[in-house]
Amino acid sequence: MEFLLFSGTANPALAAAIADKVGVPLGHSEIHAFPDGELEVTVREDVRGRDVYLLQPTSGPVERHTFELLLLADACRRGGAQRLTAVLPYLGYARQDRRTAPGEAVGARVMADVLATGGFHRLVVVDVHSAALEGFFAIPFEPLSAVPVLTRAVLDAGVRPGVVVAPDLGAAKLAEHYARLLGLPVAIIRKIRVSGADVRMREISGQIRGLAPLIVDDMISTGGTIAAAATALREAGSGSEIVVAATHALFAGPAAERLEQASLARLFVTDSVAWERAPALPLERVSLAPLLGQVLTGLHENQPLNGFSSTD
Ligand code: R5P
Repeated sequence: MEFLLFSGTANPALAAAIADKVGVPLGHSEIHAFPDGELEVTVREDVRGRDVYLLQPTSGPVERHTFELLLLADACRRGGAQRLTAVLPYLGYARQDRRTAPGEAVGARVMADVLATGGFHRLVVVDVHSAALEGFFAIPFEPLSAVPVLTRAVLDAGVRPGVVVAPDLGAAKLAEHYARLLGLPVAIIRKIRVSGADVRMREISGQIRGLAPLIVDDMISTGGTIAAAATALREAGSGSEIVVAATHALFAGPAAERLEQASLARLFVTDSVAWERAPALPLERVSLAPLLGQVLTGLHENQPLNGFSSTD
C-alpha cells in the first residue's frame, strides 16, 4: 500500500510537487485559526495502519508552523497511523545550538524537545545547520544533503567556478562537500557576527586571487553574510563574477536589497522554504521534490538511503 503525505501550511507547493513526483495524492487535511489565534487541525483521510509523512519546514512564523506540525501528528496518531515521519526541509532554531553569552537559551535543544512530543518515528531534515545537532534528538534522524542537487544545477547552468568559498568557519564542511564534487580547492573567510543582522569579514584562508568564487552556505537569512563575503572576496582580488549556492533561502528583512547590492552573477537556492514572492535577483530555485520523493519512497519501502545522506 502506498504511503500518505500531508502538508502543513508552511510549504504546500513543495508537498504537492513531492506527491506529484511519487504519484501519490496529497492527503486532505484542514488547518484553520480561530479568532483568538488557536489552531484547529483535522485530517480528512483514514490513516489507520498507514505509513504517514508530514511535510512542514519550521520556517517563520516558526512557532505557528511547528505547532501545526504537532497538531497534524496528534491527529494522525489518534487516527491510528502505524508509522509517522516528520519531513522538515528546513529546521528552524538549528543555529541556536549553544550559548554564546551567559543568560541565553539553547533554542535548538528546546526545538528538539518540542518535536519529541510529536511522537514521530523518524525525522527527515535537509542541510541542518550543524551535523552535531543530531545528538540533540532521541528520535531517529535522516540528515539529507542538497549539495549534490545544487552542484548539478550550478554545472547545468554552465557555471565553472575556480574555488569554493565558505563565508564562515561553520560552512567549512559544506564547502568541502561542494569542493569534493566539483574537484576544486576551498577558501574560508573568518566571519565575526556583530548582531543578528550584521557581520564583519576578517581574513581569508586559501587562494582566491583571480579565481571565480562559488560562495556556499546552508542558509541565507538577512543576506549579511553573503554580501559581506562578496565584498571581502572582491577586495582581496577574486574574480568579479561571484556565484552563490545556499540550501535555505529565508530572505528575511533586508536580504533582497543586500543581495542585489552584492551584484551576484548567479544565486542557486532550493525550495525548502516558501516565499510570498520571488525577489528580483539572478535566482535559480532548484526543487527538493525529486530528492524528497526518492527518500520518502525509500523509507516507505525500508530501503537504504545511500547517496542522499549528508553523512555519506
Ligand atoms: C550562520 O552560521 C549560517 O550558516 C548563515 O551564514 C547565516 O545564518 C546567514 O545569515 P545572514 O544571511 O543573516 O547573514
